[in-house]
Amino acid sequence: MTDLNLIRSKLLSITEAADSLEAIEAVRVTALGKASEIAALMKTLGGMSPEERQVQAPLIQGLRTEVADAIAARKAALEGAALEARLATETIDLTLPAASAPQGSVHPVAQVMDELAEIFADLGFAVATGPEIEDDWHNFTALNIPETHPARAMHDTFYFPDEKDGKKMLLRTHTSPVQIRTMTSQEPPIRIIAPGRTYRSDSDATHTPMFHQVEGLVIDRGITLGHLKWTLETFVKAYFERDDIVLRLRPSYFPFTEPSAEVDVGYTLVDGRRVVGGAEPDGWMEILGSGMVHPRVIAACGLDPDEWQGFAFGCGIDRLAMLKYGMDDLRAFFDGDLRWLRHYGFAALDVPTLSAGVGA
Ligand code: DAH
Repeated sequence: MTDLNLIRSKLLSITEAADSLEAIEAVRVTALGKASEIAALMKTLGGMSPEERQVQAPLIQGLRTEVADAIAARKAALEGAALEARLATETIDLTLPAASAPQGSVHPVAQVMDELAEIFADLGFAVATGPEIEDDWHNFTALNIPETHPARAMHDTFYFPDEKDGKKMLLRTHTSPVQIRTMTSQEPPIRIIAPGRTYRSDSDATHTPMFHQVEGLVIDRGITLGHLKWTLETFVKAYFERDDIVLRLRPSYFPFTEPSAEVDVGYTLVDGRRVVGGAEPDGWMEILGSGMVHPRVIAACGLDPDEWQGFAFGCGIDRLAMLKYGMDDLRAFFDGDLRWLRHYGFAALDVPTLSAGVGA
């Protein structure tokens, strides 16, 4: 019994003596931790007769609770004192002007990607992605561009050193490999757009080594050139937010489509600037490449070209942004010059959204 009283007075006095938060934490460990006298007393309960335990257990428990409460109270008092001390020395002048936090803006490329996703979502297209480091099968071979094909040289590809297994890895030169990745991983019908970064070794006012494209792909039964034309018209009108846009499909060549067409939009001259739109255009500007997916591409993805047909298109996103928002040098997109971004960028809380969705 005296034992308990002795322990009590010793522990309560070191608790009272603790004069900092570190000290009270040390007391807590000494008084209540695994190696404490109280812990040792608790252990003795197991070896007692039931009658003895009935007497001793409440005494030991009571001591433990009393000490734990005293420590908690001391800790709260020390915390209160620390806060008081801080309040006494710190002053806040509420009349000082607040420091302004720098505010970012949405980059035109990100803005256009969002607009594209929105427009094509209305048409039932999902957004697909693929890796920027590709192998040459997805970037070329499966797209009907065999090794000896001149188109490989035309793409100014950035290659990585050869892999041990002879696999050639590269920075994708277009978003078209996402067509292959989608067709080999998803059952048709397929309706996707794939926006993303692309790379070619090229640099001038209209070319940067890294640029952005969006790919479109539809695979289903009975898809025709008519579906392609309607989709592109609907997209272009929604994107430029005007109905009086005339499209012109010019026969062209891409290895992965047959037939292929380059698509021009009509522009009108306004104060010497080319503005997309006008029922009677002053001229034409190319905006994208497209065509009916080549049967060899469909077959390379393990699908039967007699059953599944489709169309595809590929379009430069940076160019789309320039045409809509009036920038004239592509390189500025990637300079990270804040003055340019502020001039053309969109304040974070004032992002222009399309005034109307497709068909509105
Ligand atoms: N991949 C082509 C390029 O980078 C663009 C393109 C043209 C994509 C026609 C297509 C297409 O899907 O059908 O130049």
